[in-house]
Amino acid sequence: MKASFFLAGLLLLAAGCNQNGHLDTAFNIVPQPVEASPQKGTFTIDKNVALVFHHVDDAAPVKQYIEEYFPKYFGQSLPVAGDAEKTIAFALHETPDAKLQTEGYELTVTENGVTVYANTPSGLVYGLQTLYQLAPVDSIKSNPEQIVIPAVRIIDYPRFEWRGSHRDVSRHFFDIAHIKKHLDLMALYKLNKFHWHLTDDHGWRLEIEKYPKLTEIGAWSVDRSDVAWREGEPPKAGEPATYGGFYTKEEIREVVAYAAQRGIEVIPEIEIPGHCSEILAAYPEFACDDFPYYVQIGPYWPPKAILCGGNDEVMGFLKDVLDEVADLFPSEYIHIGGDEAFKDNWKVCPKCQKRIKDLPLNNEEELQSWMIREVEKHVTGKGKTIIGWDEILEGGVTPSAIIMSWRGEKGGIEAARHGNYVIMTPNTYCYLDYYQADAATEPPAIGGYVPIELVYSFDPVSDSLTAEEARFIKGGQANLWAEFISTPEHAEYMLLPRLLALSEAVWSPKQNKDWPFFATKLPAQKKRLAALNYNYCDKVGEVKN
Ligand code: ACM
Ligand code: ZN
Repeated sequence: MKASFFLAGLLLLAAGCNQNGHLDTAFNIVPQPVEASPQKGTFTIDKNVALVFHHVDDAAPVKQYIEEYFPKYFGQSLPVAGDAEKTIAFALHETPDAKLQTEGYELTVTENGVTVYANTPSGLVYGLQTLYQLAPVDSIKSNPEQIVIPAVRIIDYPRFEWRGSHRDVSRHFFDIAHIKKHLDLMALYKLNKFHWHLTDDHGWRLEIEKYPKLTEIGAWSVDRSDVAWREGEPPKAGEPATYGGFYTKEEIREVVAYAAQRGIEVIPEIEIPGHCSEILAAYPEFACDDFPYYVQIGPYWPPKAILCGGNDEVMGFLKDVLDEVADLFPSEYIHIGGDEAFKDNWKVCPKCQKRIKDLPLNNEEELQSWMIREVEKHVTGKGKTIIGWDEILEGGVTPSAIIMSWRGEKGGIEAARHGNYVIMTPNTYCYLDYYQADAATEPPAIGGYVPIELVYSFDPVSDSLTAEEARFIKGGQANLWAEFISTPEHAEYMLLPRLLALSEAVWSPKQNKDWPFFATKLPAQKKRLAALNYNYCDKVGEVKN
């Protein structure tokens, strides 16, 4: 009896398995794959290796992506040639392989070659990331003509369809070169939804042809970048607004195509009806009052700016803007915000009060719901679905709106019980603008404390949901608000390495999650991130909750 236990233990060790059985620890792959079985031998990527493609169109964006990936990530270009002695083959199944679902892949590395099979281009992208993570980073650096990869067979697919990463580009502006670097990072860790928070009190970041003042005025604030965020004083009379920027439609198209090539859908967010100082600075006629709104600087609370809910021109404006947004972004979703809409102005605005009386509605919360429903009808008419922050539940919600639960999990749980689809982004696990280590040693952040171990423990499906309710949870997402983050280096520092923990929480099967093992993978992942020129926080593991 004892002897067979001993033998079984040895076999487990040899296979590199831990007590989870199929969770193989022989490889440093994030997110942890569904199944990874080590095989005997190695494959060497050298000058005799060529790429081959099966059932992948010559003009397919994924083909270009894969070809360009090798020089960028593996340090060497590989020719595309069907008759090479040794090949790395990328193949799309002609008849879908059910076990791989939409985004899965099957990666096989033997002494003679590599194959990546998938049902879709996204699957090929993910198989490629795993292959890269099998390649020792030191060897890529020191000798890219001889990269030795362990033989393995991997079958992998995601737990959730929504694996999101959010960026706020309003509080501080980030150019498209940085956004593309963020998308590369998402692809590396198999995240597939880029939630782009394009409008807020501190700047409107998107060219809208019908309303040019949104970017002529709304994209620019007085520059207070030389003082701490909380010390930014209001603008003085006549002070020029020189800080900011916006994306042209051409740039947006470029980013959307870049993302699509990596299996990433870009979801634009247009904030309605609050968080809109920048709109009211550009078009003061959309306010309830004649307060002199300006593009915000630093913190202000409570945010008074709100679009007038009783003004038909506001509704016309919103529909016009959403028309241009819908044309520009191929995503099936438009995020319409809805969070933190302080309604003090509505309580005293004759137009808003008239709308409440005429419809009739019971209160200001219902006026917000009415506005959201009007917008929703318009967006639905274009074949798209709205997403809103959990506040849109407050005055009653339609069945088709997707709820993004950020004030903890409560709103998401309520929405799932109500039969609405949900994306979980609870601030308690998923707000990467919160501190990740001891605040005394960290760059100033908005507050909170979300160390990587806590992110890792995130499960989009709360224990309190029944299996039937859990079907409504589309997945999870990490958010990066940018009040305290003004540079690409700082953004990467806040994202990394916590985004890796999020990636495993939304991709890997629950039974494959293992914090101690994940922690052992981090040093090598950080080395890889450094080689790719990403900045990251290196204190992880020192700080406990
Ligand atoms: C939010 O963090 N206000 C959605
Ligand atoms: Zn009003």
